[in-house]
Amino acid sequence: MEFKQLLSKRRSIRKFTERAVSREVVDRLLAETLTAPSARNTRTTRLLVVDDPQTVARMAAMRDYGSAFMKGAPMAVVVLGDTTKGDLWRENAAISATILQLACVDEGLASCWVHINGRPCRKEEPEGKQAADYLRGFLPIPEGCEPLCAIAIGYSDFTPAPLPPADDTERIIRL
Ligand SMILES: Cc1cc2nc3c(=O)[nH]c(=O)nc-3n(C[C@H](O)[C@H](O)[C@H](O)COP(=O)(O)O)c2cc1C
Repeated sequence: MEFKQLLSKRRSIRKFTERAVSREVVDRLLAETLTAPSARNTRTTRLLVVDDPQTVARMAAMRDYGSAFMKGAPMAVVVLGDTTKGDLWRENAAISATILQLACVDEGLASCWVHINGRPCRKEEPEGKQAADYLRGFLPIPEGCEPLCAIAIGYSDFTPAPLPPADDTERIIRL
């Protein structure tokens, strides 16, 4: 897909059909994601593939705000950073997650980022149990690795409208 078209088609989608994503497609997504650059080539990002919809539904309960939609997703990829291999693991993981979302567009898939790092399970209890600890209860997150986010992935049964044009001129600073 042409780059400009790829960018214009990318939207966060939170409603998916039940259609599973084939192993072949998932393997391509993962290989493309792993091409992401990393600080000093530390390659700190790890990808945890959750292709069992029941486990994805369990993940949906990680927070009581902004993650419930995952319940209908056929799969998700948890983007992890190996904290023992570099202090910029968050930055590296965010770049990987973004490339994964663009790779999804290229495969005709829809996706949405669900944030994990630093987010409590309950919005009203910021110092309480963290989403990452909840996920550790049933996902094989390797020691030394921290999840930055999960990317929920599936097929959308509607074509999302392109983003309405925004006046972004003040976001650009010139000399
Ligand atoms: C760092 C980051 C965290 C996000 N966290 C969530 C989230 O927890 N739940 C959710 O539904 N969407 C989440 N999103 C998706 C944003 O809400 C979405 O990208 C934004 O509203 C713009 O919409 P668009 O992606 O369709 O352009 C997140 C996106 C980013 C980049």
